Amino acid sequence: MTDGFGSGDRAAERDEHHAHVWVDGRLLDAGEAHLSVFDRGFQLGDGIFETLRARAGRPTELAEHTARLRSSAAGLGIPLPDDIAERLDTGIAQLLAADALDGETGDASVRITVSRGVFRGRGLLPPDEIVSPTIVIQAWPVVPASARHLEHGLHLIASSVRRDPASPLATLKTTSRADFVYARLEARRAAADDALFLTIDDVLSEGTSANIFVVRRAVDDAPELATPSLECAILPGTTRSWLLAWGERVGLRPVETRLTRSDLAAADEAFLSSSVAGVLPVTRFEAAPIGSGVPGPWTRRARADREALIRGTATPSSARAASTATARVADGPR
Ligand SMILES: Cc1ncc(COP(=O)(O)O)c(C=O)c1O
Repeated sequence: MTDGFGSGDRAAERDEHHAHVWVDGRLLDAGEAHLSVFDRGFQLGDGIFETLRARAGRPTELAEHTARLRSSAAGLGIPLPDDIAERLDTGIAQLLAADALDGETGDASVRITVSRGVFRGRGLLPPDEIVSPTIVIQAWPVVPASARHLEHGLHLIASSVRRDPASPLATLKTTSRADFVYARLEARRAAADDALFLTIDDVLSEGTSANIFVVRRAVDDAPELATPSLECAILPGTTRSWLLAWGERVGLRPVETRLTRSDLAAADEAFLSSSVAGVLPVTRFEAAPIGSGVPGPWTRRARADREALIRGTATPSSARAASTATARVADGPR
């Protein structure tokens, strides 16, 4: 899987002869038929999912993704098996091994999809009888972020699709993704790299598959790492949580708030965050550059530190925090 912002030929990204999928406990050839057309995930988008990164066979933050899967399931009323964590752990290991993505150089994006299951009847309401959910795991080799994105940053446009913070679905990771596909198509038509959702009250929400951050100076001149709060119709990203704690460690004051388009335009730096693509610089919003128009030093450091965590080579940076606590945004990280 690419960083998600390219138009890459997905078929070319894997050796079709070594591709498997894990479906309800069984490893199947990726080329076979796997699911019933009566599956409510296919019929209605009545399902939930997670995407995470696995380096050298080690899934990153699997516990956090499993916890979010549980809360998405609870939100939609999809009953998960009690041993879901063990099933996912085993299933991911089996799939990565079958596709030879678990070696020292293995770098995979892993998608877990759970639908409410197969029901032969029609209609929106789930059946009264207990239906077992369909549980699927897929894996793709990660294609590194493009040099263009890393060196020049991403260009975002505002999607015409608005997010409603009052919607009970806004924070769930459901497979009903038509809004997100629509927004990504808007970005492609505008020759941009991604679209940014705004809320119905016109504050920033998130990208189509990532959270957004800005680096700026606060009124007291302290360097600040700001991101839309959970009340802005965002997915509570696992990378977002990590970054907020990272900011504290490296001397960037973490702030969860309501950010406007003007805040983005006036920021020194901006970036997107997600499990698979990591941290990606954003250097243009609509027609205007952000900051100096090139990826900034805090963004580069955030990306490097996050990639080190995923590789399993992160060193505790708390010791550095004191020395950077007084760093100014314009100075960048030390
Ligand atoms: C809409 C949306 N927001 C945010 C994120 C980032 O979440 P995470 O950091 O857990 O990958 C994703 C990830 O796919 C997403 O789809």
